[in-house]
Amino acid sequence: MAGTSVFAELVDEAPPVFKFYSAGEWKKSTSGKLVSIINPTTRKTQYKVQACTQEEVNKIIEAAKTAQKSWAKTPLWKRAELLHKAAAILKEHRAPIAECLVKEIAKPAKDAVTEVVRSGDLVSYCAEEGVRILGEGKFLVSDSFPGNERTKYCLTSKIPLGVVLAIPPFNYPVNLAVSKIAPALIAGNSIVLKPPTQGAVAALHMVHCFHLAGFPKGLISCVTGKGSEIGDFLTMHPGVSCISFTGGDTGIAISKKAGMIPLQMELGGKDACIILEDGDLDLAAANIIKGGFSYSGQRCTAVKVILIMESVADTLVEKVKAKVAKLTVGPPEDDCDITPVVTESSANFIEGLVMDAKQKGATFCQEYKREGNLIWPLLLDNVRPDMRIAWEEPFGPVLPVLRINSIEEAIHHSNASNFGLQGCIFTRDINKAILISDAMETGTVQINSAPARGPDHFPFQGLKDSGIGSQGITNSINMMTKIKSTVINLPTPSYAMG
Ligand code: G3P
Repeated sequence: MAGTSVFAELVDEAPPVFKFYSAGEWKKSTSGKLVSIINPTTRKTQYKVQACTQEEVNKIIEAAKTAQKSWAKTPLWKRAELLHKAAAILKEHRAPIAECLVKEIAKPAKDAVTEVVRSGDLVSYCAEEGVRILGEGKFLVSDSFPGNERTKYCLTSKIPLGVVLAIPPFNYPVNLAVSKIAPALIAGNSIVLKPPTQGAVAALHMVHCFHLAGFPKGLISCVTGKGSEIGDFLTMHPGVSCISFTGGDTGIAISKKAGMIPLQMELGGKDACIILEDGDLDLAAANIIKGGFSYSGQRCTAVKVILIMESVADTLVEKVKAKVAKLTVGPPEDDCDITPVVTESSANFIEGLVMDAKQKGATFCQEYKREGNLIWPLLLDNVRPDMRIAWEEPFGPVLPVLRINSIEEAIHHSNASNFGLQGCIFTRDINKAILISDAMETGTVQINSAPARGPDHFPFQGLKDSGIGSQGITNSINMMTKIKSTVINLPTPSYAMG
């Protein structure tokens, strides 16, 4: 645990109170106020973090602006070297960081370790990708455009934006933080991290790994606190040059309030799983379980609605039911498949969707059961479009099945959603799969597998209310840069000399 380890300087008292990270040091807020982090399993306070003030945010952003200027001049290979070092430290300390994920967000123990290891790999890959793509520019000549002689040579390169504000969500407080931090840093930006409340302590541990790697003071900061005090203040701060956000509706509000700066937003999804008559139903059932119930459905890319052809629906539902019965339910420490959802209000919201569907006639394939934040996995058959769960994102272990009679009906339902993150199709007919993929208004379509963000270098993007911009390592590095041109103007057409 933090108090007895390399992480000791982050923590102050018992129950553990964590400091925030500013100008290369761990500090207590002058507000004297703290924010409690509730363990979703015990529903008791597990940790406390500092409630930072707007003045502390100002200091962090000033330091980030100063540090960024010299970081932009630091050779790319040196930036990469530090990132590789941070990645190794992160992986070395995966156990205490994973423990925070278990306690703060009830992530199953093995998945928590996987998140940290995946994060270290992401940071290393980002360093490697960065040295390659940022080491290249373009050279253009003027006489390809009508009316021009070869009198101008244009050199382009990628330059950093400045201070990047990273706001990750509770479900991947480490991985979706480093997926913003590493591209920002390799591209020569500085970073201000505002972690989610649930997950803040895991994020602070991750930041400490960057601290131990020896990055310059002020280049990386982590500010904790109440959204009401520092949320808008951060996102509307004139010192911020780019915002990378993953989360819910708040992202839409941020997009409206942010200034004229690049935005990268991932705001959820209602990913459909379309199964045709010729689909491999065993493969589909296995992917519905993995896609719909891993981390208790608390993933943007989770399967959130099954659209199954009526003629094979009974068989598919039976196969999924048999697999749901095998899911283990309980505490994350025991590495159960289904663990408590992150907050009581999330559990209440999920229950509201379930009760609405029940009242309107959905068939429950299992008994609905809840204890505190723990909700047993539930498959709801015969869901109709008038039920909220057909459209809304539960972010929990409850999965609706809509029976359909044509491919057109499936595409229509998927496209009628406000979201457009991912979708998946199960069929043995590749031609049909491609045509359906082309017709689906989502950023990604998976053929014969559940939706997922990874591997982390793949492009990842949402349409409509699911987001702005494209992520994935390469796209994030590019998004966190601007193109700079230098034009050499020659006195005479160069070929005239020879
Ligand atoms: O919910 C966040 C989203 O990015 C999901 O990531 O890796 O679970 O597909 P992943």
